[in-house]
Formats: sequence, C-alpha cells, structure tokens
Amino acid sequence: MIIHGDCKHVLKNLPAESFDALVTDPPYGFNKQPDLAEVFGHWIKGDDYEATGSGFMGKTWDSFVPGPATWREVFRVLKPGAYGAVFAGSRTAYLMAASLRLAGFEVVDQLFWLYGSGFPKSLDVSQEVDKLDAKQLKKESAYRCTDWIREFCPLSSGQIDKFLGRNGMGRHYRDKAPGGKQPEIPTRADLEKLRPFFTAAVPQWFEDLVDVRTFESENHNSREVIERYKKVAGLNEWRQKYGEQTSAGNLGSRTAPHSDEAKAWHGYGTALKPGYEPIILVRKPTTLTYAENVVTHGTGALNIDGSRNGERFPANILHDGEAFAGKEWERYFYCAKASTADRDDGLQLFEKVSAGDATGGRKEGSAGLNSPRAGAGRRDGARNTHPTVKPTELMKWLCGLLARPGASILDPFTGSGSTWRGAKLNNQKFVGVELSAEYIQIAKARAGAIKP
Ligand SMILES: C[S@@+](CC[C@H](N)C(=O)[O-])C[C@H]1O[C@@H](n2cnc3c(N)ncnc32)[C@H](O)[C@@H]1O
Repeated sequence: MIIHGDCKHVLKNLPAESFDALVTDPPYGFNKQPDLAEVFGHWIKGDDYEATGSGFMGKTWDSFVPGPATWREVFRVLKPGAYGAVFAGSRTAYLMAASLRLAGFEVVDQLFWLYGSGFPKSLDVSQEVDKLDAKQLKKESAYRCTDWIREFCPLSSGQIDKFLGRNGMGRHYRDKAPGGKQPEIPTRADLEKLRPFFTAAVPQWFEDLVDVRTFESENHNSREVIERYKKVAGLNEWRQKYGEQTSAGNLGSRTAPHSDEAKAWHGYGTALKPGYEPIILVRKPTTLTYAENVVTHGTGALNIDGSRNGERFPANILHDGEAFAGKEWERYFYCAKASTADRDDGLQLFEKVSAGDATGGRKEGSAGLNSPRAGAGRRDGARNTHPTVKPTELMKWLCGLLARPGASILDPFTGSGSTWRGAKLNNQKFVGVELSAEYIQIAKARAGAIKP
C-alpha cells in the first residue's frame, strides 16, 4: 500500500508501534551547506529546518535531510527494538545520523555500499587559475554595469526579481563593490525588460558588454594542447562498454598550464571519485533484552543466516561488483546499480522520457546525469522518471536482513517503489508514503510487476 502526502503528516494517522522495520532512501540534502548552528537550533527546539533551493538534479524535495520532527513520526509507528536502514549521502550522512538520533533512534552501524561507477566532479584547479585574468576583467566590467543600474534604475533588488521572475537576479544586477561578490552583466533579454524603467539612455559601452558577456582569457587561450582525445566519459563510456554507438565529434583536449601560478597548481583538483553510499543502521530503543524483545514484539534481531554470502557472515560492506572484482570481494554481498530493466519493470504502458528530461534537463554525459545516485550511465528513453532509483535486489536484501517474512516494512520516502518491490520479493507487507503523484503511479506499476 502507498499513501500520497508528506510523511511527517501522513504518519500521524497511522497507529503507534505498527511496523517491524524501516527501509528507506530519504532526501540527501545535496544543497548548499547551511549554517549548522541554525539547523541544530531548529532541530533542538523541535521544528524542522526548512531549506530553500533545490538538491540533487534540481529537485526541491532533495533540498535537505528530513529533520527530527519527521523522524519522530517514523519512530512512533515502529515497534520497540525495530531496525531501520536509512540511505544517506557521503557528505551529509552526519546530518542524517544526527537527525535520527535527535528523534530517539540508536545508531547501530553504518553500512557502505561500494560501487565502481560514478564520476568525480573535480575541477581542474590549474585551468581555473589560468582563467583568472578574464574573471577579473569580467568582474570589473560587471561592476561598471551594476554601478550604472544603481544610479539610473529606481527598482530595488526585490522589485527586479519580481519583475524578471528570476529569484536573486536583482542582487546580482545591483551588486556593489567591494563588498559584493557576484556582479552580473544583464542578459540581453533582461536588459530589454528593464529598459523602460531606466531614467537615462543606456550607454553604448553597456550595450556592448551585454552583447559580449563572455571574456576571453589570455592565459587560458595560451595553454598548449598536449593531447586531443575522444571524450568517452559518462554515458558514452557506458555505451561503449555495452557495444552501443557513442555520439560523434565529442572531442576533448588536455592542455598544459600557462601562467606560473597555474603551473604551481598543475594536477590539483577539488573532489574525489564517489565510491560508496552510506546506509545508516538504526534501532528504536527498547527496555527489553534482545530475547524478550523478539518474543514480545517480533522485532529486534537481524536475519544473519538469511543474509549470508554463501557461508560467510553478512558484513557492513556491500558492493556493485564493478570496481571490486576478485576473490577478496566475493565475501561481501554484491549488488549492481539499478539496471534499465529493473527501473522500467512494469512500466511498459508508460511513455518513454529522455534521460536528460527525466533528470531535470541534464545534458547527456553531464556530471549530474552520470552521478551514481542517478544510476551512472543510465540510457535515454527510460520510462521511470525518478532520478534516484535503488536496485530492487539491494532493497530486498536490506528488508530481508531487518525483518522476517510476513513482517511489515515502512518506507516513508518511497520514490519509484524499489523498497516495495524488495519487500514483496521477501513476502513482506509494505506501507509507503510519497509526496509526488507521478512517482506513486510508477511505484504502483513497478511493485505490481513483482509476483513473489
Ligand atoms: C531518494 S528518493 C527515493 C527513491 C527510491 N529509493 C527509488 O528507488 O525510487 C526520495 C523520495 O522521497 C520523496 N519525498 C521527499 N520528501 C518527502 C516527504 N516529506 N514525504 C514523503 N515523500 C517525500 C521524494 O518525492 C522522492 O521521491
């Protein structure tokens, strides 16, 4: 069963202590890092911090991790001693764990699901250093424009935002040196919209800057090309691997640093290749012993034998098999990323949507589309429009580890229903909650395709 709505409110209508386990993949909060004191201030007062903006793939539902007020509702409906497996992002897991702890959960462990796919979103620092000359010129030119706007346009930043329908642009167009940080030269379209408000004619130098907007970097243009190569990153790499055609003419080049400052930073970047997703293992505290708890509530023990890898004891490491082949890794539970067949199972009557559209207008081969969370290497023309589908096999393993066959599993952040599918394969009961009506249709169809 799946319920449409915000789980923080929906769960209030469900009876206390009615679920045997929690298996969920909530929003990771891949937004700008908020002021932690403010977040904890809200959390400790008992209300949820409301983040503005959007998270992964521009999705507003992903803007921040669920707060303790939400987890408290989840806590209430779980039986004493019940376990929970909660996915988190590697850079926001500390917030997820803190939020769960503030809601009353004990943190028991942290599982790592390791994967080989996924691309680093690392910036080539030396290249950026070589672009600094143009940045300075661009900034100075932008300040010429913002100074002029402040003098000859009577609209406030807020009024400009409202008028253009673009949040935050007013601040960029009226930015003031030296305190301001992000002055912008208006786009041609925005300038035309603002023109009727100006109290003076727009000078020619301003018109010219609006037409140029990009500034050539001398240092960057002078970088020596040391190698030209066919770009096979991301989706193309995946297509090559599976014998499909890669898009033509996608050429990249490797260049040598030009300025002395860039030479000093050659080989430096800003991020590592993502290689794992944490899964926080929590438990609702109980006053009973393990033995008393399983007998009284039917919860509070992990299914060790049912989750063994052959003869081996289940570990807190799982892997996708790609980067971790060989004997050493055979001891760990293996689960690959969700395949297209898994994502689209049961969706034969749904229309196909391009990968870019399904993931918020991302370009093919873009870093966002190739994020492991988006299912790196997803092909276009998928029917499942959810951007963060988890593999059914992984959810089945987690549901089976945390609760017995026939038990009731809760997923308050159901998405396209992968936990539901996993629970069904274990002959477990399932209740899910999901904000989006579109995802609910997908989840119902995908779960309906599972015949245990
Ligand atoms: C990370 S996705 C889950 C994806 C899922 N594991 C799958 O395989 O499709 C999180 C989901 O939670 C939903 N969501 C976010 N906040 C919610 C809330 N307060 N109540 C219910 N659903 C919510 C989002 O719409 C999104 O579909």
